Amino acid sequence: MSKLFRNPVFCGLDTHDLDEAEQLAQALAPVVGGLKLGLEFFYAFGRSGYERIADTGVPIFLDLKLHDIPNTVRGGIHSLLSLQPAILNVHASGGIEMMRAAREAVEDEGDGRPWIIGVTVLTSLDEADIVRMGISGSPSDQVRRLAGAAQEAGLDGVVCSAHEVERLRRDCGNDFKLIVPGIRPKGAEAHDQKRVMTPGDALAHGADILVIGRPIIRAADPAHAAQTILEDLPPAA
Ligand code: C5P
Repeated sequence: MSKLFRNPVFCGLDTHDLDEAEQLAQALAPVVGGLKLGLEFFYAFGRSGYERIADTGVPIFLDLKLHDIPNTVRGGIHSLLSLQPAILNVHASGGIEMMRAAREAVEDEGDGRPWIIGVTVLTSLDEADIVRMGISGSPSDQVRRLAGAAQEAGLDGVVCSAHEVERLRRDCGNDFKLIVPGIRPKGAEAHDQKRVMTPGDALAHGADILVIGRPIIRAADPAHAAQTILEDLPPAA
């Protein structure tokens, strides 16, 4: 995989104000490795909103978490390709055939194709929730099962918590991309994230991409906050 980002920090533009998102994108584009746009943004502002952010030239992780039958996911991804996102994701629980279809959808795009990433277990679910869904074992057992399925289907990697990175890195090898939210610089407010890790520690455990939202976008000077995070990363990052 030849895709190279300037650095591993992707900032989550979690705002429903398009002008604010655009201002943040302009300020952050020269600093971060990429920006993440999610469901709330895309449903509100669609392709034209996406393009206003993409016009800053920054790579975009379009976090739409597709989950449907294989043919529909393949078609959905085809429809997104003209936006040229750097990263797209699908729910790994949609099954191996669905993930294969997602991967096939980008097959003809060559080296510039988006990474297709699997979402394993949503961090909002605890053991009781997954037992009620009929799944045995702990959430981390299920994360490992789904990461294995994602790898078997040919996906580029998974989203996982920082506390799962070390194990998945061992299980899935060095080429499998691990995208990690729940990252907090030392001393930063955790907000609603329950099990946070610092950017440096997450990279040391084997993360490839760090998704960081509020510590950057809610700072008085977001570009400076992102720069400070980058300066604290180990040199090899
Ligand atoms: O503001 P904060 O740094 O907590 O934002 C993290 C971003 O990563 C948000 O966009 C959130 O939706 C996303 N995310 C997460 N936990 C997951 C998956 C995605 O926090 N398991």
